[in-house]
Amino acid sequence: MQTMGDIKITKATTSKMSSVDFKNLGFGKHFTDHMLVAEYRNGIWGLPEILPYGPICFDPSLATIHYGQSIFEGIKAYRLKSGTEAVFRPYDNFKRFNRSASRMEMPEVPEEIFIGGMKRLLQVDAAWIPEEYDHSLYIRPFMFATDEIIGVNPSASYKFMIILSPVGPYYAAPMRIYVEEQFVRAVPGGVGYAKTAGNYAASLHPAAVAKQRGYDQILWTDAHAHKYVQECGTMNVFFVIGDVIVTPGLDSGTILEGVTRDSVIAVARDLGKTVEEREISIDELVDAYKAGTLTEAFGAGTAATIAKIAELRYKDFVMNFDPSSMHLADQLKSILTSIRDGNAPDPRGWMLSIQG
Ligand SMILES: Cc1ncc(COP(=O)(O)O)c(C=O)c1O
Repeated sequence: MQTMGDIKITKATTSKMSSVDFKNLGFGKHFTDHMLVAEYRNGIWGLPEILPYGPICFDPSLATIHYGQSIFEGIKAYRLKSGTEAVFRPYDNFKRFNRSASRMEMPEVPEEIFIGGMKRLLQVDAAWIPEEYDHSLYIRPFMFATDEIIGVNPSASYKFMIILSPVGPYYAAPMRIYVEEQFVRAVPGGVGYAKTAGNYAASLHPAAVAKQRGYDQILWTDAHAHKYVQECGTMNVFFVIGDVIVTPGLDSGTILEGVTRDSVIAVARDLGKTVEEREISIDELVDAYKAGTLTEAFGAGTAATIAKIAELRYKDFVMNFDPSSMHLADQLKSILTSIRDGNAPDPRGWMLSIQG
């Protein structure tokens, strides 16, 4: 593997930037002028290349289309108060990406390509990093099988890519959540902890059913008893019961180990709060709600940051929360946002400058 100094860059002849309304970005709708591509063949990674953003062409027998050997990550870059640009905790996503790769029998991506390539791509498209509050440049690294052959085998060749999308807030309003009891997201021994495409494909039908019932998202429960809560669509979940913050533990391997989840836990503990990572039964939540001790419920994820839950429905029982009185969710979001915008100290070195 050669160093990143060898990266080949082909610049786009014109920029699409002036055609994008940065005041109405939405999420995942616009893409920057460039993308990073690296190929894995014959057991080694080739040099990454930065190219103009555009279509990629494959044979219809492409292994990924048929067997789903595909993984991805979601990271955000911010424009700091100082005017410089930095990425939030990319090494955590890098490590999770390679855990996903290992579970899906895919090659690990070297740091020079994942982190080095990401920084170089961000330098090229730095002008696309939005300045507005709650806006950022979403970074989507992904890898997929590129053998063009029919047959259930690990591919011998892969493509790793990074694309970038300027984004605004993911959920504009507090969410209505449906506690799922029929469909299952993940089982122990399965791929729940991996950020692999099939997990999301399998969630689409249950999410559509929940939407038909008027809900924004599902809160998954465990596969065996449908008794213990797991996570929401693309977020880990937190509850405040009395003085304690609780969130489902990671031991079962059925939950994605969220970078935002870890950040929320760290910041909450800095504030002197007790955070418990453990099994949480839906009965415990219902009992706490009835007793008046369940005061806050919120999701945490890169896309959504912290998203308050206004309604949680379990069977016919509806739990309503007042988003305006979720002071802890507000405080946690404010601290995380300040670190990301460069308005607060970053004692753990979470922000990685795109320069250097
Ligand atoms: C299934 C799932 N759970 C949780 C999360 C939150 O993880 P993170 O905070 O790393 O974005 C995500 C988003 O990546 C997700 O897709």
